[in-house]
Amino acid sequence: MAKIILFTHQKGGVGKSTLSFNVANLLNQHAKVGLIDWDYQGTLLQVRELNDQLTYIDVDRDVKKIPHSDFDFIIIDTPPYIFEEIHALVKLANLIVIPTQASINDLLAIDKTVQIIKENEAVDRSIIVFNRIKSNSSLKEKLTENFNELQIPIANSIINDYDAITNSIVTKGVEVKHKANNQLQNLTTELITKLLSNG
Ligand SMILES: Nc1ncnc2c1ncn2[C@@H]1O[C@H](COP(=O)(O)OP(=O)(O)OP(=O)(O)O)[C@@H](O)[C@H]1O
Ligand SMILES: [Mg+2]
Repeated sequence: MAKIILFTHQKGGVGKSTLSFNVANLLNQHAKVGLIDWDYQGTLLQVRELNDQLTYIDVDRDVKKIPHSDFDFIIIDTPPYIFEEIHALVKLANLIVIPTQASINDLLAIDKTVQIIKENEAVDRSIIVFNRIKSNSSLKEKLTENFNELQIPIANSIINDYDAITNSIVTKGVEVKHKANNQLQNLTTELITKLLSNG
């Protein structure tokens, strides 16, 4: 049975598509990975032809069509709003990743997503990931206490803002020797460790 990793946050531009792509791409080197673009914007589908290393799955936004038995991991990218199937996907997911930038706006916008996680008793299966953190910025530290109050686990791994990550969906990921690749690897390891410890 595939482990399902859902990337969600009702706010736009936090890095759902970028991080789901990169985590899928790194896991794909060791395991059978399927990638589902649940977003009508189709950010990941648009670059499908440039990423023939990945297996894209089309389930027509039907939760029942997710092919659990064909993959080790299924990564799902979701839209920047509350959509019909979100509750079903949160119930189903083995891990829910909530990327966020470190800003007051992002903190204010995260509430609805957190509420859905709590309603579906998925707090232990969820993790907030700080993304696009500017080097030398102290915003993350300043906001840590506020994010802690959400009572959703926060990843130790953080992802800085790198041009290499911006471009990664059209360059088959980030170059191995780039610092950004280390951060994405560390995040992927942390996510898998959490997945396995959740059973
Ligand atoms: N760590 C990063 N470093 C640099 N650029 C990044 C990083 N993460 C995301 N980006 C860029 O930020 C923009 C928004 O990212 P992305 O499209 O992944 O967000 P999203 O949450 O999927 O947005 P939407 O909600 O609209 O689907 C993109 O241009 C992407 O390339
Ligand atoms: Mg997206």
